[in-house]
Amino acid sequence: MLRTTAIEDGFGVRVHGADLAGDGLADTIPCLERLLSEHLLVVLENAGLDHDAFVALGKAFGDLASFESIDFPGHTLKLTNVGADGKIRGADDPIRRNIAGDALWHTDHTYMVKRARYSLLRAEVVPSSGGETQYADTRAAYDDLPDSMKQRIDDLVALHSIVYSRSLVGVDFGTEEMRKRLHPIPQPLVFRHPVTGRKSLYVASHIAEIVGMPTREARKLATDLIAHATQPKYVYAHRWQPGDVVVWDDRATMHRRADYDDLNEERRLHTMRVLEDSDLYDPNATYEYT
Ligand SMILES: [Fe+2]
Repeated sequence: MLRTTAIEDGFGVRVHGADLAGDGLADTIPCLERLLSEHLLVVLENAGLDHDAFVALGKAFGDLASFESIDFPGHTLKLTNVGADGKIRGADDPIRRNIAGDALWHTDHTYMVKRARYSLLRAEVVPSSGGETQYADTRAAYDDLPDSMKQRIDDLVALHSIVYSRSLVGVDFGTEEMRKRLHPIPQPLVFRHPVTGRKSLYVASHIAEIVGMPTREARKLATDLIAHATQPKYVYAHRWQPGDVVVWDDRATMHRRADYDDLNEERRLHTMRVLEDSDLYDPNATYEYT
């Protein structure tokens, strides 16, 4: 039987005593999914999972994204400021700049043909201060919008591009081949949750365009909605301890990494994404924007 403690009103729950690695995992997953539908974010403090058990937990939720990470290929992506040589990346390291994209508010995989249903993070090494992961409740943020804004945005389609969002932190996804492979992906600006039927803002720094809207207006609208959804009243910041695991519903949240002294302190977490089809629109169609 899972014991739970609420974190914020309706957003986030701590789960205690869950069987995450033993024979009970198959029974645990539907319980966690119910909690995720209701609270959007589940914190498993000091979960006691090694790397293989963490991957098994992810696989129990569904199909996982694959990563081509050089030093750790497979279903997990290592999020760290330490290079393959074991040294903290210097100020001029191009990968350090790429990692800076994690500090922008976003939701995972909206720029891919298969979007993330859930994401998982597990902490191994954490800095002495800072480096929290901040989560925004975009369901509550949607609920609080004036009706006129809801009507304006309910049926809009946004185009998400990692090429665009990385350009915001000075990263150029140089080659034409890469830009083609990472072409913008259409997503609803407002997502209706398949289990609860509740709507959320499905926004991220990846939004480069909104179909049928001039670029400047689209980016202003996306920026305004992100600013609205990330007011302190909608945000929970998870202060990591080694061994913590957090699971969240990407369709009704945003997240970002808080700053820390990344030139002097090590931080190492592993992430996985549980995927679902982005089947609301044709990802390969040509969408008109001005
Ligand atoms: Fe992320």
